[in-house]
Amino acid sequence: MFLQGEYPSIKVAPPGPNARKILKEDQKYLMQSFHRFYPLVVKRAKGFLVEDVDGNIYIDLNAGIAVAVTGHCHPHVVEAIKRRSEELLHYSITDFVYEDPVLLARKLSEITPGSFQKKIFFGNSGTEAVEGGIKVARGYFEGRRPIVFAFIGSFHGRSLGSLSLTASKPVQRRWFQPLLPCVEHVPYPYCYRCPWKQTFPDCDYWCIDFIEEWYFRRYVPAEEVSAFVFEPIAGEGGYVVPPEGYWRKLKRLADKYGILLIDDEVQAGMGRTGKWFAIEHWGIAPDILLVAKGIASGLPLSAVIGREDLMNLPPGSHASTFGGNPISCSAALATIEVIERENLLENARKVGEHVLKRLQEMYSKYDIIGDVRGKGLMIGAEIVEDKDNKKPAPKAAQKIMEESFKRGVLLITAGLSTLRFSPPLVISLEAMDKALNIIEEVIKNVSRNTLH
Ligand SMILES: Cc1ncc(COP(=O)(O)O)c(C=O)c1O
Repeated sequence: MFLQGEYPSIKVAPPGPNARKILKEDQKYLMQSFHRFYPLVVKRAKGFLVEDVDGNIYIDLNAGIAVAVTGHCHPHVVEAIKRRSEELLHYSITDFVYEDPVLLARKLSEITPGSFQKKIFFGNSGTEAVEGGIKVARGYFEGRRPIVFAFIGSFHGRSLGSLSLTASKPVQRRWFQPLLPCVEHVPYPYCYRCPWKQTFPDCDYWCIDFIEEWYFRRYVPAEEVSAFVFEPIAGEGGYVVPPEGYWRKLKRLADKYGILLIDDEVQAGMGRTGKWFAIEHWGIAPDILLVAKGIASGLPLSAVIGREDLMNLPPGSHASTFGGNPISCSAALATIEVIERENLLENARKVGEHVLKRLQEMYSKYDIIGDVRGKGLMIGAEIVEDKDNKKPAPKAAQKIMEESFKRGVLLITAGLSTLRFSPPLVISLEAMDKALNIIEEVIKNVSRNTLH
């Protein structure tokens, strides 16, 4: 029976017969723009375990791409969904009122950084939150500040507005240009691969001074810039953690020119980093904060949470039929309750520290681990050819991911060659250790074969 006995447990080498059948149909009927990391066909999932259609059980270090923060199918969240779905499936917050989004907005105002009054817009997905953030910022300045800054190495979504900010992999943009005009990109603070080949802290945050010296003084009028849009920790771009002090210094630059900070916490938020929101590690409150993924433990929902005075788009100028639907909002309220009641922020910190420690030990043993970084349960281990040349080793990273899958651990990559650890926040130390033992075995084999 599911969840009984030892885990992970691979009974049939994946993909088993049931999986193979579904995968064939998947290839036939679903657009191939959906990427497939490996041939996993999920049947059900509970907590930090996933069962495939052939009865194999895996330890989940993906959480459905950083979504299932409370663990899969947490009973409290499932109960909230069941209860509300018997009463109301939909009525559209675009034009009418029901209570769930109001209660959720109040709760989100309390747990997001900044003691100022906030207002909230609800959509359905991360990309929609980013679109909303851009519109709120441009709208606040009534069109006088059309320019938005984003970071090379960041991911903000794939609809055309958010894609204009996304700069993580060429495949995401190829064929779709021209995108939004008035978007400027600067390098993400990725110290391990500093574009200027400088070292922190000797660089004294040159990457921020660079914005003022090379953009604002030379060709971008700062008074036409409405916002910096950024991920506090880069997700899809490789789980990159900016240096201590970076976002505070960016805020000083933004304040100097009256530019807003839009913090995209779609991946890093909702407790993943051991605080409600990752930006809290840098001790600042953004003007606008974007949340999706983990907000409702797997139901579609996103939020644009902004300072009250900014959130003043006129009626009819921005809305979305399904945004803030009662079921998703109830699931989100239950998600927040579970995170609070079960001390999941504390668990993310505790298990995360342990993962970092074990990965550091592996770093000192295996030359193909070039860098280990992260906060809470948002952790990356960058796989390279060797520590000296630091060249990304995507094939080796892929091999580690595939072999881990075959042995019962669900792990994916980010950026060019980073192993990304983003398990459900309910994961236990014991399960994490089991997964890490398997991953270490695999890394040992792959480094022996020096497959790049
Ligand atoms: C930081 C960030 N922003 C935005 C998005 C887009 O979210 P969605 O896929 O829900 O549109 C993602 C998705 O991975 C993300 O990681």
